[in-house]
Amino acid sequence: MSGTAVGPLTGQDLLALLHDRRSRPALAAPAPDAAQLAEILRAAATAPDHGRLRPWRFVVVDEGARSGLGDAFAAAHADRDPTVTPADLERTRGKAHRAPMIVVVVSTPHPHPKIAMWEQRASAVCVAHGVVLAAHALGFGAMWRSGWFGTAPKVRAHLGLDDTEEVTAWVYLGTPSGPTPPPRQPAHLPVTWLQ
Ligand SMILES: Cc1cc2nc3c(=O)[nH]c(=O)nc-3n(C[C@H](O)[C@H](O)[C@H](O)COP(=O)(O)O)c2cc1C
Repeated sequence: MSGTAVGPLTGQDLLALLHDRRSRPALAAPAPDAAQLAEILRAAATAPDHGRLRPWRFVVVDEGARSGLGDAFAAAHADRDPTVTPADLERTRGKAHRAPMIVVVVSTPHPHPKIAMWEQRASAVCVAHGVVLAAHALGFGAMWRSGWFGTAPKVRAHLGLDDTEEVTAWVYLGTPSGPTPPPRQPAHLPVTWLQ
């Protein structure tokens, strides 16, 4: 059940959380409520962060904000391809409605004398994974998506991004619906033990 609080976690529980997490493309209402979302974002914000620069921020798109975002997606699509059909624009608009909530993880790197820009972006990537994992811990489903919208001027303006900011992740959040993905199969690990 989504939003179910779990008791104190053991180390095994935490490992199980990592192993059990699967991306959930089909997401329905309810999304996390404000308190649950705050818990998810606080947990994600504990990600490794060299120099404690906190080089990231969140933009939350809730149910009511999705139409505006969908319009921005469609406007960006029309800019990119002036020959796009109305049906394709409608499909693009619908991408904002694939879940009841989207958390946009934004990387906000700034030149620093000791901490490279890539390290700051890496911290934002860890935060995005944290959002997905924390949502799973609370019984919600999540799917990390990307794509060109994060670089489209009209979408960026809609999100209120400045020129130095980058979209790291579109994390779609909600209650898992559709078929439960099969458990992960053990995969070959590309590990080299240095002699
Ligand atoms: C940076 C990044 C961007 C991604 N973008 C997309 C995307 O746009 N569409 C998509 O279907 N999956 C995307 N994925 C992959 C899914 O989030 C997911 O990891 C993948 O479907 C594997 O499923 P699993 O997480 O259950 O192993 C992206 C993953 C990462 C790390």
